[in-house]
Amino acid sequence: MRKVTYKVGTDIALIKYWGKKDEVLRLPLNSSVALNLDGLTTTTTVEFDGSYNDQVMIDGGVVKGGEKDRIVEQIQRLRLISGVDLPFKMVSENTFPRATGLSSSASGMAALTFATAGALEMDLTQKQLSILARQASGSACRCVCGGVVEWHEGETSEDSYAETIFPAEYLDIVDVVVVVGSKQKIISSTEGMKRLYDHQFMKVRLEGVNQKISELKRLIKAKDIEGIGQLVEAEALEFHSMLLTSSPPIIAWLPETVAVMHKVQELRKQGLGAYFTINTGFNLHVLTTPSDAYTVETLLSKMEQVQQVMVSGVGDGPKELTEHLF
Ligand code: PMV
Repeated sequence: MRKVTYKVGTDIALIKYWGKKDEVLRLPLNSSVALNLDGLTTTTTVEFDGSYNDQVMIDGGVVKGGEKDRIVEQIQRLRLISGVDLPFKMVSENTFPRATGLSSSASGMAALTFATAGALEMDLTQKQLSILARQASGSACRCVCGGVVEWHEGETSEDSYAETIFPAEYLDIVDVVVVVGSKQKIISSTEGMKRLYDHQFMKVRLEGVNQKISELKRLIKAKDIEGIGQLVEAEALEFHSMLLTSSPPIIAWLPETVAVMHKVQELRKQGLGAYFTINTGFNLHVLTTPSDAYTVETLLSKMEQVQQVMVSGVGDGPKELTEHLF
């Protein structure tokens, strides 16, 4: 059997996925749109051999418990399809802090799916890989392709997958990722979504989301970074209004997160193109233009609340590497 390694960029959702209509298949309540990122990546090596014992290592540590169970479950899904029933070893490394709201499970589960399918010598299409990745972690289905990616909500497992809607080189946009904390985020997405049932805002959100996606596509086509930024920031705040009013409430932000939000709005008043978005953690993504990126990065990294700043461009999708992690 082959030893296979893939490097996969994570993504940042411009229009968020939040809520499932099928828990087991991870079918989302709405379609979503994301940017694939080349600066925040997961590299994963997988090999199947009788001498292994389903070992999982991430970022230098042995992984056990629920996190390991989800990985084994995904490997098992692929083992069943391939008909190969050998134990495995998996080693994975991230270039960014894991479980802090920067979507390490999206790139992690996509890299795992690609490396496992390769190691099992399965011949799968990008669509099939997206459908398989989705079942491990919803947003992972978007990390199987590059550029601006849309995950079509779908009604069945076969039609809920992601594809590139604009290639990476189409949009000149920079993501300044701002780390204000490296502790684990307060709630996983899976748990957060469970607090959403019968949410008072959900009906309104679902009524408007397709229109919002169309508007975003129009702005991207026009390469209107200011329009994209304003829409994306408003979407992030709408998403957090649902978290704040979930039962029990999810207050994901730290005081440092709010300080960065204020700073971004101040930067705009100074004439810089800077717009934030944020997932369920406390770390933020600040979208900006290539010409403003250096100033935005410098000013944000000088803030006392900021621990680390990482700059990313738009990624063009998973890459197979010839150098392995073990
Ligand atoms: O794929 P999950 O289960 O990690 O959920 C991702 C949810 C958000 O990051 C908040 C939004 C998104 O679309 O990525």
